[in-house]
Amino acid sequence: MRILWRPFGFSRLLKVKSCNSTESKLLIPLAWTTLTQKLRKVPGIFFLFQRKVFSTMAEMEASKSKSELFSPPSNVRGMKNLDRTAFKKTVTIPVLKVRKEIANRLLRSLKRSALQRPGIKRVIEDPEDEECRLIMLDPYKIITHDSFEKAELSILSQLNVSPQISKYNLELTYENFKSEEILGAVLPEGQDVISGFSRVGHIVHLNLRDHQLPFKHLIGQVMIDKNPGITSAVNKINNIDNTYRNFEMELLSGEENMMTKVRENNYTYEFDFSKVYWNPRLSTEHGRITDLLKSEDVLFDVFAGVGPFTIPAAKKNCTVFANDLNPESHKWLLHNCKLNKVDQKVKVFNLDGKDFLQGPVRKELQQQLELAEERKPSIHIIMNLPAKAIEFLSTFRSLLDGQPCSSELLPRVHCYSFSKDANPVQDVQQRAGAALGISLETCSSVHSVRNVAPNKVMLCITFQIPASVLYKNQTINLENDEEPSVKRQRKDNDFLEEKTETAPDT
Ligand SMILES: C[S@@+](CC[C@H](N)C(=O)[O-])C[C@H]1O[C@@H](n2cnc3c(N)ncnc32)[C@H](O)[C@@H]1O
Repeated sequence: MRILWRPFGFSRLLKVKSCNSTESKLLIPLAWTTLTQKLRKVPGIFFLFQRKVFSTMAEMEASKSKSELFSPPSNVRGMKNLDRTAFKKTVTIPVLKVRKEIANRLLRSLKRSALQRPGIKRVIEDPEDEECRLIMLDPYKIITHDSFEKAELSILSQLNVSPQISKYNLELTYENFKSEEILGAVLPEGQDVISGFSRVGHIVHLNLRDHQLPFKHLIGQVMIDKNPGITSAVNKINNIDNTYRNFEMELLSGEENMMTKVRENNYTYEFDFSKVYWNPRLSTEHGRITDLLKSEDVLFDVFAGVGPFTIPAAKKNCTVFANDLNPESHKWLLHNCKLNKVDQKVKVFNLDGKDFLQGPVRKELQQQLELAEERKPSIHIIMNLPAKAIEFLSTFRSLLDGQPCSSELLPRVHCYSFSKDANPVQDVQQRAGAALGISLETCSSVHSVRNVAPNKVMLCITFQIPASVLYKNQTINLENDEEPSVKRQRKDNDFLEEKTETAPDT
């Protein structure tokens, strides 16, 4: 997260998408000259300046100094070992004095203007009058009684409350600051505070940049303190380029235990996060593929991990053949099938993907495709190993013997890949097509899964394996037997075979 409000003081402005009146009033006090210039370029901010162009200089100055109000004290800058006591600070807050019996009722009507800080009560006792209470107000919104909205003033008048603002000295401690405020105050000024993190059960998983590394233990501890349920913070050490795609990680703070439990799309998974692959950013993709499956379908999950495609599919009453080369993934896959009560629907394997395709998949496909037409299920093959899955596609070439079944019953492959190409869709179609020896450009769909890094995307290409690829010794009558799309494929296929003759073996 970039602390834009430090140098510019308008992070909230940058988050504004539409300009409703509440937001625009909130933003008005921050309208300094430099700020104004920057904001002119932000779409949708136009109304801000129309609403209160008449802010007084005094108001502007007051709000300028208040932009630092909720920053921790400046002496914490550069702190490496977390000293929570160093975060104490006293700030002056606008308060409204009201009779105690109406305090809570009034607070509901002043929601917009009330102070919202972690751990700070918004209604406190009045130290000078036990019959009264003080409602803490947001100093960014309420500067004088003029800052109240019309509706608020009308409620105050109805309840016979004077809109006169008083001041209260509030002591802020470490508990009252948000993690981004703490890290923004500690880390070097103007630099990224945290460049992204994900949560896996009780573990927060960070990916720290070089300038953040001297502060890594403090960052880990702050993330634990500020995120309920998090008790471990780890940092990714290297890119995942090992075979099993699990992260090399370093414990920054908290408990060493990496045995965790997560919920994804209503299913539960348990695993040792230090030994297997798990990415919470794939939950939408797992859901998308699951939605394509129907009861009674057959699924081959070639790189299954701990089961995020397998288990939802089995729950949908699909028959699943799930495989992973990592013995730890295999162990947790078996465990999660039992945990989610689908072990009767899943056959689990611990093979290299190629051996899985040439062994159990081939055998099962042969049987399934020989069934009578009306009993044939839809068959899906998921290949989620984006760095390498395309290389495994060549295994489908001449995998089966016998006569091809009708084209709509041929297996549907969902194969994942990364791409750094300027045209990632074409890139994936071409590489997948080359591995199969056909052109996929007119008979595949490509779904963009997520941006992995600047200029690197993860995609999923979906296609049916043509009979001409899947079956041995195919002599297809081009003129009579094939559908137009297949004819076109074979034409491209011939062309590609010529072109890829000298290409490296995929
Ligand atoms: C990117 S993860 C995907 C896991 C899971 N499908 C998911 O969506 O979270 C790829 C998985 O493939 C496994 N794997 C890597 N190389 C393999 C191979 N040659 N054969 C079979 N599995 C492999 C890894 O252990 C890892 O669990």
